Amino acid sequence: MDLKQKYYALYGDNERTDLRWTQLEALIEKAKKERPKALKKQDEGGNGWYLSEKMAGMMLYVDRFSKDLYGFEDKMDYLSELGITYVHFMPLLKAREGNSDGGYAVSDYLEVDKKFGTMRQLEKVVGLLKKKGIRTCIDFVLNHTAKEHSWAKECCKGNPEYQDMYHMFEDASLPSQYEQTMTEIFPEVAPKNFTYYPELGKYVMTRFYEFQWDLNYSNPQVFNKIVEVLLTLANKGIDIFRLDAIPYMWKELGSSCMNHPKVHELLRMMYQILQEVCPSVIFLGEAIVEPHEIVKYFGSKQEKECNVMYNASLMVLLWNSLATRDVRLMERSMAKDYGVPADGVWINYARCHDDIGWGFETGILKDLGLDPQLHKQFMIQFMLGRYPGSFSVGELYEFNPVTLDARNSGTMASMCGLEQALKEKHQYKIDLAIKRILLLNSIIISYTGIPLFYSGDEIGQLNDWTYKEDKEICGDSRWLHRGKMNWQDAEKRNDRGSVQGRIFSGIKEMLDCRKSCEYFSSSIKSIPVDLGNQAVFGYHKENKMMFLANFSETEQWVEASYFDWFGLPGEMHDMLTGRPIRSYNNRILLGPYEYIWLI
Ligand code: GLC
Repeated sequence: MDLKQKYYALYGDNERTDLRWTQLEALIEKAKKERPKALKKQDEGGNGWYLSEKMAGMMLYVDRFSKDLYGFEDKMDYLSELGITYVHFMPLLKAREGNSDGGYAVSDYLEVDKKFGTMRQLEKVVGLLKKKGIRTCIDFVLNHTAKEHSWAKECCKGNPEYQDMYHMFEDASLPSQYEQTMTEIFPEVAPKNFTYYPELGKYVMTRFYEFQWDLNYSNPQVFNKIVEVLLTLANKGIDIFRLDAIPYMWKELGSSCMNHPKVHELLRMMYQILQEVCPSVIFLGEAIVEPHEIVKYFGSKQEKECNVMYNASLMVLLWNSLATRDVRLMERSMAKDYGVPADGVWINYARCHDDIGWGFETGILKDLGLDPQLHKQFMIQFMLGRYPGSFSVGELYEFNPVTLDARNSGTMASMCGLEQALKEKHQYKIDLAIKRILLLNSIIISYTGIPLFYSGDEIGQLNDWTYKEDKEICGDSRWLHRGKMNWQDAEKRNDRGSVQGRIFSGIKEMLDCRKSCEYFSSSIKSIPVDLGNQAVFGYHKENKMMFLANFSETEQWVEASYFDWFGLPGEMHDMLTGRPIRSYNNRILLGPYEYIWLI
């Protein structure tokens, strides 16, 4: 279907659609014309670049990383040194004053927030990064705007055209009907999905925080305005748009207002527009939902939606494997074929700016003899650091005292045991914590997809407890893992005797290996193998390489007969260390948390 057909199919064949379609066509033409020459040249290469084994991302808050976009210029070499090839700037467009949900309440899409710099400076940085072979990703918060956005302000002036861009209701009857089927996102800090504004005399849909007003995509004007912003930003040189909170874009009474089929129609149109205007640009979708729903956001071969999606399942399963020293849930879940299209790529990550929510495949849990509710409680308590023997130090997020449900916050290093070990000055525990950190990194770097590092984790930054002193954010424990980059610690990255040096160089070496071998391209799939040892995760890459990872602190033996069937030679070596490994001895020894990449 061409774009026009899709547009009319979604918005109906009527005068309103005619008008909006004409406007959309015009803005697409304008963006095409305005696209700078250099970017047009880049477009000639298409967007297949994201499949390369060279890809490695880092996500960072500009203010926490380098104060602002001017300071960022001095830090670019640090990213290159680690081997980063794309940088994801956490929200940097103009956000509301005060609490802005970490910038996810945008008040102007076309301005850079002044605390970070200017749009000109962003463009400069994008250009400088490009010269270093680093692409730029920005957050595109398209489900909602801040209530301070000019569109929202127009609503407050009583302008009906703008009021139609949001979900507004005269009285509580429709909102309460919606509430019956809608889920809550922040049940503790921002319960319910609607807010009444006396000055407006209306209820507004506010699915996230009260100050984040949900856009109404059933109005083609919203689609057009958002596309206009998207193309304007694309023409500034942005390569990757992280589409925030996409499952919530379409709201319909009587539905959960999540993963609605019409969200997919919107995304397919947006993708088609990218192909027309800026075909080297890609979409990274943020949909932290069940695996069978996540994969739908890749679209199909004919009708693409997002090129890249967050692999939330792998992330959760990594932590699960560390806590339980049992990889069976991960192995079975990852072996499941959800129908990811050949060019759909996962972003593999262990931590990000958000909390960890324990979404498991309950069927597989039950097959393993585990009670899903009890197991979730175990994970919550373990990551919090309350379960006896736990190495993790973290906090609860969105704890519900009635159901005891919660998610968890904390940095990678603290949750891997480093905070506790350093506090105890326990060298052996420090070693174990570092091994855990590197183990998780070894999976995200080698498993098919793009590894994404969360700034600070590459030097083992600990939880930042100072957020509790800030009134604005102390109620949101996600700030525990959003600390400032500690550049003094980063100085130690080349000292292999330091914690920072061991982690940084460990990651760097793995990235170097990854980039040197085409088997790490995202077009080659990773396939889990049952090794008959529940502490060891094993996977091969279409019979070309084999990976073994011990998720326990005790040594483990693996019988090579579990995987030598696919013809790896009897004499192999670990790509990371060069150590020869003989599978014909039939048994391979793995030390505590050891991982090997066999080739
Ligand atoms: C995404 C972000 C999260 C934010 C939410 C609302 O899920 O990752 O940090 O709170 O969107 O914009």
